[in-house]
Amino acid sequence: MARHFLTGEELTSDELLDLVDRAIQLKADRALSRALEGRSVALVFERPSTRTRVSFEVGVRELGGHPVVLREGETQLSRGESLRDFALVLSRFVAAIGVRTGPHATLVELAEHSEVPVVNMLTEDHHPCQALADLMTLRERFGELSGLRVTYVGDGNNVAHSLMVLGAKAGLEVVVATPPELGPDRQIAEIATASAANGGGVKLTNDPEAAATDAHALYTDVWVSMGEDDAAGSRRAALALHCLPAHPGEEISGDVLYGDRSAVWDQAENRLHAQKALLELLVGPPRLRRAA
Ligand code: CP
Repeated sequence: MARHFLTGEELTSDELLDLVDRAIQLKADRALSRALEGRSVALVFERPSTRTRVSFEVGVRELGGHPVVLREGETQLSRGESLRDFALVLSRFVAAIGVRTGPHATLVELAEHSEVPVVNMLTEDHHPCQALADLMTLRERFGELSGLRVTYVGDGNNVAHSLMVLGAKAGLEVVVATPPELGPDRQIAEIATASAANGGGVKLTNDPEAAATDAHALYTDVWVSMGEDDAAGSRRAALALHCLPAHPGEEISGDVLYGDRSAVWDQAENRLHAQKALLELLVGPPRLRRAA
């Protein structure tokens, strides 16, 4: 049975830490792996993308494979072909299928019928590939993930969900600060808490100022730049993360986005390396586990 990556829950804690280490190796030598030599990967985009589209397409090529990009309206899905038939047919052509779509249930249905690994390239509920790059960026900057406090401030959306699920599993203390009406999905928060490892965990709050205090990194989205001057003081020393696209002057100031504490551009680049490591794990030949 094919191994999928739909929410990040599919990886064990060891596999996740291993993957982050491998991504750092792949960044140091872009030509290190040819895990997809002679194979093709379908990349299905039912929503727009800059980073995900380019990083997956370049990543598949760097691994020796051939990316087949399918945009909304280009396949028979748009004319009513079933997800089952789509998945069964693509499985005969490609080694893996990446999907960016709206409802998470669409991705799950496609994966149920796919005979090759399916990778979530974003749904309304989860963005686990983004979280892999986030973890890699933190590992590069701080050396270790376990014990880091990462505060996400904004809408409790798919990015927050995946940061909770994968961050807690990797040993982060993930604090998610949202307005009460925009909190993350409670069930996903419970799943993240239940699968936390290496000392990691999840905290939900409506107090961004308290949440930002002592954070090693601040992950910004809407709701940060609301003139909270006191909180800004305590955030100044923290690393700034943003999944992009950004709206300077809205959820993040230009000073922070382009400033010394910004890790945003590394974070974006790391999508490439983390996804190459993921594709290696799901599709490529087995490799040795990292040393303890
Ligand atoms: N962060 C992210 O997924 O960017 P894109 O929407 O441009 O792919």
